[in-house]
Parts: sequence; structure tokens; C-alpha cells
Amino acid sequence: MSRFPFPRYPNGWFQVAYSDELAPSGVLPIHYFGKHMVLFRTEAGVATALDAYCPHLGAHLGYGGTVKGDCIKCPFHAWKYDTTGACVEVPYATHIPPKAKVKPWHLKEVNGLILLWNHGEGAPPQWDIDAIEEYGNAEWTPYERRRWKIKTHNQEMAENAVDSAHFHYVHGTVEQPKTVAEVKGHVLHVKSETKMRTPMGKVTGTVESISQGFGYALTRFTGIVETLLVASTTPIDDDYVDVRFSFTVKKLANGDVTSTVGAAFIREIDRQLGQDIPIWENKIYVAPPMVCDGDGPIGLFRRWSKQFYPASAE
Ligand code: FES
Ligand SMILES: [Fe+2]
Repeated sequence: MSRFPFPRYPNGWFQVAYSDELAPSGVLPIHYFGKHMVLFRTEAGVATALDAYCPHLGAHLGYGGTVKGDCIKCPFHAWKYDTTGACVEVPYATHIPPKAKVKPWHLKEVNGLILLWNHGEGAPPQWDIDAIEEYGNAEWTPYERRRWKIKTHNQEMAENAVDSAHFHYVHGTVEQPKTVAEVKGHVLHVKSETKMRTPMGKVTGTVESISQGFGYALTRFTGIVETLLVASTTPIDDDYVDVRFSFTVKKLANGDVTSTVGAAFIREIDRQLGQDIPIWENKIYVAPPMVCDGDGPIGLFRRWSKQFYPASAE
């Protein structure tokens, strides 16, 4: 039985790779949403995701498949599939079986990430992910990346942002932050003011996060130094999620200070996540939760969450 009373794979955009992991003609096997898929980049540079298994005799296109033009060639008998998943060539046959097709996935490449659209009922993308001005900007550092595999659910991790009481008790922030949350369609906007203990003493800062569904969130921190965290959480299977944090720091006039302060800040977030993990991995989901007046906007968060599951999940 599932630990969670909602579907394992919410709808939305989810990171499946970084753009620079997939060179032109590159091929990567990926496994998310309990499914095996192949990610490849055409010679012209278009990133594509298809279901992994060749309908001919079942080879995994991600293991030994090769890119030819805008197609991927199966490693087993050289059938070729285009970016829509249609078989366009069987080199030793005169007729291509008309049903030879692999399922394509909606992909989007933005901000250095490759994102895949998942929808429980197969609907096309319902929102877009915008380019951010910090990415590829000379005034900001290149991404510093961190990655974890955690035994939890996207919704549980996302709830952390509105759980203002835990920041003090789990993470040791000096005070409980004041949290204001607002919902607009698929976007959850949370703003907090926080005091953190840092190597430079107590620092007051703001934390502003914009979650677009459960897969992708931008968190901007001010205080020590301006930092942007692009946080992505992608369900792998019934138990685990793949978490990638990409940090970029606004450069200060002194490059050494940028890297020292940036590194200290990233260590702090790293430390905080390390504190959350054992809680997430072992907790249960309480519905309805027994909240008190000092808690953050957990009810608002849970109402917002429902839209990412099929209506039939109610
Ligand atoms: S299994 Fe792919 S071409 Fe035969
Ligand atoms: Fe936390």
C-alpha cells in the first residue's frame, strides 16, 4: 500500500537531465514515473524523449541506440524512429509495419534544464516554464549543482516551503519566519523573512519561492548575497524522487568573496536538506493535519496541491 493517499506521479513539468548532459547526437536512458525512456538529441540539436522499448523485439533504445539525422536507430535491428516516435525506416524490409511507433513525451529545454511533461491522463502541457534572467547572465555564476535520491513524494517535499514552524525546530533558524503564501493557478508563491545563523553571524534575509507545480521551483534568497536556487524534484518510481538543486549567485565586485560566501550559503542549504531527509523518509502523511495557529499556510498548500492529480483521484 502506498504511503500517500494521492497518486504517485503528479501532473507537471519535471527535470529529467541538464542540457549539457545531452550533446548533439547524444543518447541517454532515463527512468522516471516508473517508466523507462530514451532521451536523445538530434544532429540539429532538438532534444527528444520517447518510450524506451522498440516495438519490434523490445530492445531499449537508450542502450546502444544511435542518432542519425533527426532519428534514433535501434541497436538491435536498425529500425529508425523520428522525433514523433514514428518508425521511418526498416533497412531490410519493403514495408514498414504501420503500427511501429514509440510513444513520444513533451519536452522543454529552458534555463539549462531538460524538462518532461507528465500527465496522468495524457493531456498536453497546461502551462509553460519561462526563461529566467539569471541563467546565462554574466553577472551570475554558473550553476553549482547538488543531487539527492530521497524516499518521499514530491508533495511532501514541496510542503516544506509553507511549513514555517519547522525552520526553527529542524534547521535552527533563529526565529520562525513570517510566511505569506499566495496561489495563482498552478503557481504557489511563498515569501518569508528569516534570520539565519551563518559564519558571518546572524543575517536577516528574504526567501521568495515560486513553485510551478511539484517539479520545478525557483527560490530567491537575499541577505548574505543574492542567490537563486532552481529546485527540481522528479518522481523515479513508487518510492523515490530525484532531487536536483542548481544554485547561481550574483557576482560581487570581489570574485573571491562571491565564491566564499556562495559556497557557505550552498553548504547551509545542503545542511538543511540533510536535516529534512530523515523526516521525509520516515514520516506518514496526515490528512487532515492537526494544525495550530502558529503553523504556516498548510491548508492553502494542500488545496493548491489537488490540481496536480487526475480529478478521479479525489
Ligand atoms: S528490436 Fe529494435 S529493431 Fe529490432
Ligand atoms: Fe526543511
